[in-house]
Amino acid sequence: MKSFGSKPWVLPQPVLIIGTYNKDGKANAMNAAWGGQWDMHEIMISMGSHATTENLKLNNGEFTVAFATAETMVASDFVGIVSANKDPKKMEKTGWTEEKAPNVNAPVFTDFPMTLECRIKEKIDESAEGYNLVAEIVNVLCDEKYLDEKGNPDVEKMNLIIYDSVGHNYIQLGKVVGKAFSCGNEIK
Ligand SMILES: Cc1cc2nc3c(=O)[nH]c(=O)nc-3n(C[C@H](O)[C@H](O)[C@H](O)COP(=O)(O)O)c2cc1C
Repeated sequence: MKSFGSKPWVLPQPVLIIGTYNKDGKANAMNAAWGGQWDMHEIMISMGSHATTENLKLNNGEFTVAFATAETMVASDFVGIVSANKDPKKMEKTGWTEEKAPNVNAPVFTDFPMTLECRIKEKIDESAEGYNLVAEIVNVLCDEKYLDEKGNPDVEKMNLIIYDSVGHNYIQLGKVVGKAFSCGNEIK
C-alpha cells in the first residue's frame, strides 16, 4: 500500500447545489462537495465566505439543497467557480428555472430531480472564513418524474453525479448492485 499522508479524500463526496436569495430577491446557487447527512433529520455543510453566506444571514439561515445530475453538471460546476458577487448574470447563464420553495425562503431549481428545504440550526467554528453548518431538513421535494411505482424517489432514474476529490472529477452514479442491510445476510 502506498501512503499519501492526510488528504481531503473521503470518497465519494456529493455534489450539492445550495439555493438562496440575494438581497435583491434574485436566486443564487453555489456548489458544495463538503457536506453530508448529519443525524436523521439534519445535514452538515462546510461553508466558506461567499455571496451565499451573506444570503443565509439575510434569510434566517434558510436554503435549498439539490443533487447535481449529468444534465446539470456544466452549470453546477459554473455556479461553483463564479460568485454572484462578481457576475450579476450568474444565474441567467445556468439556464435553470426556479420557483419559491414551499416551506423556506429559498429557490427550488426545477431542473433537478430532488431538493431538500433546509434551515440552519447551528454554526460551528464561525470565523471570517466561514463555518460548518448543521441544518434541519424541513422537507424533501422530488419531481414526480423520478418516483417509482410505489411513489418513492427512484435514485437510479436521476443520473446523479458525485465529486471525486482525488482526481477532481465528476462521476455519474451507475446501477444498483445490491440491497443494503440485506445482501450481507448471505454470509451470516
Ligand atoms: C466541486 C466544487 C465543490 C465546492 N465545494 C464547496 C464547499 O463544500 N464549501 C464551500 O464553501 N464552497 C465550495 N465550493 C466553492 C463555491 O461553490 C464557490 O466559491 C461559489 O462560486 C460561491 O458562489 P457565491 O459567491 O455566488 O455564493 C465548491 C466549488 C466546486 C467547483
